Amino acid sequence: MWFYKLMQTLHVELGERRYPIFIGSQLDPKQLLEPYIHGQQVMIVSNETVAPLYLSHYQEALKSLGKTVATCILPDGEKYKDIQHLNLIFDALLEAGFNRDCTVLALGGGVIGDMAGFASACFQRGVYFIQVPTTLLSQVDSSVGGKTGINHPLGKNMLGAFQQPQVVLADMAQLDTLPDRELSAGLSEVIKYALLGDADFLVWLEQNMDGLIGRDAELLAEAVYRSCAHKARIVANDEKEQGERALLNLGHTFGHAIESYLGYGTWLHGEAVATGMVMAADLSQRLGWISSDDVERTKKIIQRANLPISCPKIPLDEFLGYMAHDKKVLNGQLRLVLLKQLGQAVITKDFDVELMKQAILANQHG
Ligand code: NAD
Ligand code: GLY
Repeated sequence: MWFYKLMQTLHVELGERRYPIFIGSQLDPKQLLEPYIHGQQVMIVSNETVAPLYLSHYQEALKSLGKTVATCILPDGEKYKDIQHLNLIFDALLEAGFNRDCTVLALGGGVIGDMAGFASACFQRGVYFIQVPTTLLSQVDSSVGGKTGINHPLGKNMLGAFQQPQVVLADMAQLDTLPDRELSAGLSEVIKYALLGDADFLVWLEQNMDGLIGRDAELLAEAVYRSCAHKARIVANDEKEQGERALLNLGHTFGHAIESYLGYGTWLHGEAVATGMVMAADLSQRLGWISSDDVERTKKIIQRANLPISCPKIPLDEFLGYMAHDKKVLNGQLRLVLLKQLGQAVITKDFDVELMKQAILANQHG
């Protein structure tokens, strides 16, 4: 008999599109997914790294529910998050003869979730979608909230759709196989939620960071729960990012500049966001909003998660050039997510650009 070692449920409150996030360890996909699969056909999209680890578990569960299960296994990597590889999902759906009441199930990290979700939004103008995120980053961020998409040679995540899943199943047991660096990258997004909206969560992270790095499943589940609770609340208020949802980009404008300059794949997204959050905290201090002790506290929790607090030297004009391409640029004006205090972020265009340059330069090395 199955038992749940841990199991918590949250909901993203989007009216008729309300959906649950199940968070636990050794979750039973058969029981948890059954109510959310509407038709008979399920396409599992995964990649060459995750499929050998977890695909058979989900295939068996779905087959035991009497479903027709097909698979599409993509190569592993951000560089394959493109239109050519998206098309492989459409090929698989069409070759399997899937119809409009099929479900696309993403089994993998954020790359697979974004691609499978976008494919499900496009195929026959939209079919059902399920997220089974297998990285910490995808469990706390990309699987929740409905942003899906692919990269274009001229920009990351430039093609996409809002496509909310039917259900999200986040199983901590699957994090056992995650490389340490990927775990830390996920913790960067966890720290982000604390800094942007929850001072108590920051204290909790300070108390429990060693256990999180040590992969304590109960602590990880708690961190995922608290992170998803924040994201779910923000998404319920602002699904299409007209306002508050932009707060989730704390550290991202600086981080995207670092990622773009170094070349995608050199630094992980979460690593770049970590240094980006230090720059955002530093600028907030230069604006007189937070103290230098607050900046040190920010750096310390980031370091304890084995994440970088500074980036290699990047020519300032290039750094600013990349920042100018950020999706938060509105009417040609750069907006940044900054900290009024630890646990309270704001989105603002009212900052001194000279101070911003100082904050960037102060957090580079070499
Ligand atoms: P990823 O999907 O590339 O996964 C990281 C690596 O871990 C990959 O090599 C993957 O194969 C491997 N992996 C996944 N699960 C594993 C497991 N359980 N055991 C062992 N290895 C495993 O990267 P990610 O950090 O999960 O996601 C990054 C992507 O998410 C980016 O493309 C980013 O744009 C996107 N993203 C989207 C949103 C959103 O709201 N849609 C938010 C944040 C990030
Ligand atoms: N990752 C930011 C968002 O989902 O809005």
